[in-house]
Amino acid sequence: MRNPIIVALDVPDASRALQLARSVAPHVGAFKVGKELFVSTGPDIIRELRATGAAVFLDLKFHDIPNTVAKAVAAATRLDVQMLTIHCSGGSAMMRAAEESAQRAAQELGRTAPLVLGVTVLTSMDGAALAELGVEADPAGQVRRLALMAAASGLRGLVCSPLELPMLRPLLPDAMQLVTPGIRSGSDPTDDQKRTLNARDAMATGASWLVIGRPIYAAPDPAAAAQQILESLR
Ligand code: C5P
Repeated sequence: MRNPIIVALDVPDASRALQLARSVAPHVGAFKVGKELFVSTGPDIIRELRATGAAVFLDLKFHDIPNTVAKAVAAATRLDVQMLTIHCSGGSAMMRAAEESAQRAAQELGRTAPLVLGVTVLTSMDGAALAELGVEADPAGQVRRLALMAAASGLRGLVCSPLELPMLRPLLPDAMQLVTPGIRSGSDPTDDQKRTLNARDAMATGASWLVIGRPIYAAPDPAAAAQQILESLR
């Protein structure tokens, strides 16, 4: 079985990120580098993580004109990340440009293209926040619309909340990879996550990958926490 656990390295500096990564590496499938860590450490953190043999998910959620996003995706591909994120709300031309750029840059390097993941509606946004932007659809309707656009634009994966899995999985091609944060077991604090599912149920509902942060990095023994989650999937 491929290990579907992606650990969010939501820590502010490289030494803590690398220490955490080394301790949990045997029990997880990849590491997610987000805006805080990337902005404070730069691309070196990606190189150092890749040097340990780990797969890396660069979560910078690109959203810009197609040409600019295509260049950023090509640069991320040259950094040798295995997954990265873009905002679906950048539009279908932007999504197509991102996917094509990942394929082209990878081909030039003789590598497998990274999985370009679309982010639909941020889970921090509710109906009122969408209405303020002039979006009349409710959040679920907008997620559905953007997910279908992403598939039609050639994206091979999406980020979605665990509670969106039952709606999205049947709607999308089987090969579409769904990457799901908001994972908590019954005994975990929910932190600021409002809608959660445990790892096993998320996989059973159609997740391809699970993004897990605090339940692993804030645990007294992160390696044991990761191992326990992995065992819950077997
Ligand atoms: O600590 P926790 O497990 O809640 O971390 C989840 C990770 O997934 C964080 O890096 C967070 O930014 C990210 N994420 C999320 N909800 C989304 C999108 C991303 O929690 N809708």
